[in-house]
Amino acid sequence: MKKGETMDGIQQQELNVDGIRKDFPILERFVREKKLVYLDNAATTQKPLQVINALTDYYTKYNSNVHRAVHTLSAEASEAYDNARQKIAGFINAKFREIVFVKNGSEGANIVLHSLVLDRFKPGDEIISTVMEHHSNIVPWQLAQKKGIRLKFVDIDDRGQLKMEQFDELMTERTKLVTVAHVSNVLGTINPVEEIGRIAHDAGAFFMIDAAQSIPHMPFDVKKVDCDFCIFSGHKMLAPTGIGCLYGKEALLEDMEPFLRGSDMIKEVKLLESTWNDLPYKFETGTPNIADSIAFGAAVDYLNALGMKNVWGHEQNLVNYVMKRLSEIKDLVIYGPQKRGGVISFNLGDVHSHDTASVLDEQGIAVRSGHHCAMPLMKRLGITAATRASFYIYNTKEEIDRLCDALEQARSVFKL
Ligand SMILES: Cc1ncc(COP(=O)(O)O)c(C=O)c1O
Repeated sequence: MKKGETMDGIQQQELNVDGIRKDFPILERFVREKKLVYLDNAATTQKPLQVINALTDYYTKYNSNVHRAVHTLSAEASEAYDNARQKIAGFINAKFREIVFVKNGSEGANIVLHSLVLDRFKPGDEIISTVMEHHSNIVPWQLAQKKGIRLKFVDIDDRGQLKMEQFDELMTERTKLVTVAHVSNVLGTINPVEEIGRIAHDAGAFFMIDAAQSIPHMPFDVKKVDCDFCIFSGHKMLAPTGIGCLYGKEALLEDMEPFLRGSDMIKEVKLLESTWNDLPYKFETGTPNIADSIAFGAAVDYLNALGMKNVWGHEQNLVNYVMKRLSEIKDLVIYGPQKRGGVISFNLGDVHSHDTASVLDEQGIAVRSGHHCAMPLMKRLGITAATRASFYIYNTKEEIDRLCDALEQARSVFKL
């Protein structure tokens, strides 16, 4: 491997992590008298000053509703709001009209459920997903069963990778939607979405990607992966909570009926019927989340300045290091494949993951424990819970060393 090249052959520059860390005031925090090590990034990331300042600027300088009034404040707010959507569209190579603002990825899936699946699919139609999904990409489709729509799930192998042959085996002429996570939030598995998309489209099905754990971490191009829909959450990529996106191909969104109704999503209202606003507004009801959308734009500016290839490269370096270090710890079982995104779930002997996480918290280390909103996957792995460390742009090898030292301490606490 050449210097500056990752396992994927992507040219990269090293991130200036010391400089990055200065933008995140929370990383200066002490927890239980130890410097915070934040390794719960798959749940939500920390926010840089640039994002926090975008929020403060909006509320202190031009707070106003958008697209309604002619006064200066409203014009400034509308411009900043539209710019944010344009930035997010550019980030994934989509059009402005294809980016629907939602609360989070889960809400995006619910729009697809109501506006596509429940509205257009027929009893006997089928949806294919996988056993490794987050609940957000399982629970919405369960409602479709009430309409007689069948759910089918592709299994994983022992390494935590999808049994790809099952897509062909499960696919029938009644398959109307294939929906998969790009990167598993538990196993870190990077699924071959371009290949899965081709299989779905060859069978005439729509293809949706749950990109909650990929868009924040790697270059992502909706045209290249050729997905019909994709969902992601701002808070997992430096933006505030309460803002996320549903991407949909323009022609498909144009053809779909809105799910939530009222206020800004209309063109004309009569007492007994209405016509819908242009895309993307027809899917956005009421006063939107203006401040958080603008701050989402600031988060995308921040990531663009770093370069997503460099973000991915940094995380891959951390993953290689942590996989090596963790493999040296006795009694530690790691779930998922060697090659993965920046997510490592593990269990220490038969210690419950909450107990492991509590010992880590004593050392100022924040990790997630529990079922990770992936109960079917836990069942498939034969466990009820796991501890998860997940990484982002500001994490360092020194923090990984602290994680490993704390895990060794946990081994002695629990007498392993
Ligand atoms: C793979 C995956 N999909 C969907 C979600 C749901 O994201 P949100 O809670 O922001 O809707 C998550 C959150 O952890 C996730 O990891």
